Amino acid sequence: MYSSKIVYTGSYVPERVVTNDELSQIVDTSDEWISTRTGIKKRHVSTGENASDLASKTAEDILKKGNIDPLSIELIIVATVSADYSTPSTACLVQAKIGAKNAAAFDVTAACSGFVYAVSVADKFIKTGTYKNVLVIGTEVLSKITDWTDRTTCVLFGDGSAGAFLERCETGGIIAEDIGSDGERGMSLTASNILASNAFNDVEKVPSSCIAMDGRAVFQFATRQIPKSIENIIEKTGIDRNEIKYVVPHQANSRIIEIISKKTDIPMDKFYINMENYGNTSSASIPIALNEMVEKGMVKRGDKIIITGFGGGLTWGTLLVEW
Ligand code: UT7
Repeated sequence: MYSSKIVYTGSYVPERVVTNDELSQIVDTSDEWISTRTGIKKRHVSTGENASDLASKTAEDILKKGNIDPLSIELIIVATVSADYSTPSTACLVQAKIGAKNAAAFDVTAACSGFVYAVSVADKFIKTGTYKNVLVIGTEVLSKITDWTDRTTCVLFGDGSAGAFLERCETGGIIAEDIGSDGERGMSLTASNILASNAFNDVEKVPSSCIAMDGRAVFQFATRQIPKSIENIIEKTGIDRNEIKYVVPHQANSRIIEIISKKTDIPMDKFYINMENYGNTSSASIPIALNEMVEKGMVKRGDKIIITGFGGGLTWGTLLVEW
């Protein structure tokens, strides 16, 4: 069986930056509350670009870095909860925009675990020999599904996009995974509910809903499930935790990361944190972090890193990657 390896990463975020102070002018909040409770200082917000626009610019960044011919791409998987349309998929829109005529394309919905799920799917296509390469992108325009009058959610999220190009390799790459879901807790984090209204029933036609979250429930879920998921990977592979060079976690709340660090006995300086600049960008948060690390030259071939996400579904996903 083959292995799959992340060979290039890329990213694109909208230019407009919204600070905590700006948010305090539209809802009853403060920079102090947002920074101390979450670690977030600012986020990027779309001035009109949609999820597929951000994703296409990420794709172009990756193609440029890898000098990749778009016609050579065999599969495009996009993870998103804020797609431009239900159909065509965001991946199909990207395929058209970058001219990847030979690629199959589809979207994956696993909220903030979306990038991990999408890489897991890509890995299977490569491992089974179906494809030699897959372009995976996480992209979100959460600002369009945010309730800007709800201070408990609107201060948390941001828009952005990033991704990775995976190729077949002989060894290393994606070594192990632990993905899972707890649908019974799904109502703790919802967005874009479209009621089943039609011409033959009395269901009222109302606009699709915004993000609604029981923050404490998700916090509790993440701080219980992610340490277990990381331990699961450590146990499964027999890796010594000191061998883990970095952990790239979903960027939702720095307090969640501190608890994961304590519970797993992996020091905080191994966790990459950049939510300060982007907020929570759901499926884009992990690849944005990963791309920053690559651009800073932090990750070297052979390094073992953990990538871990959690969120709507509720879902979680952890990967052990040999870079
Ligand atoms: O990516 C998807 C996964 N999502 C997450 O991981 C989110 C997980 N949850 C969290 O990160 C945290 O639960 C939050 C950041 C959402 C909330 O932090 P918290 O420490 O759990 O705060 P809380 O909900 O317990 O609220 C504490 C207080 C409340 O006031 P009272 O009832 O104590 O008077 C809230 O009304 O803070 C108030 N509050 C705010 N105050 C100022 C809530 N939001 C705000 C705000 N500004 N933006």
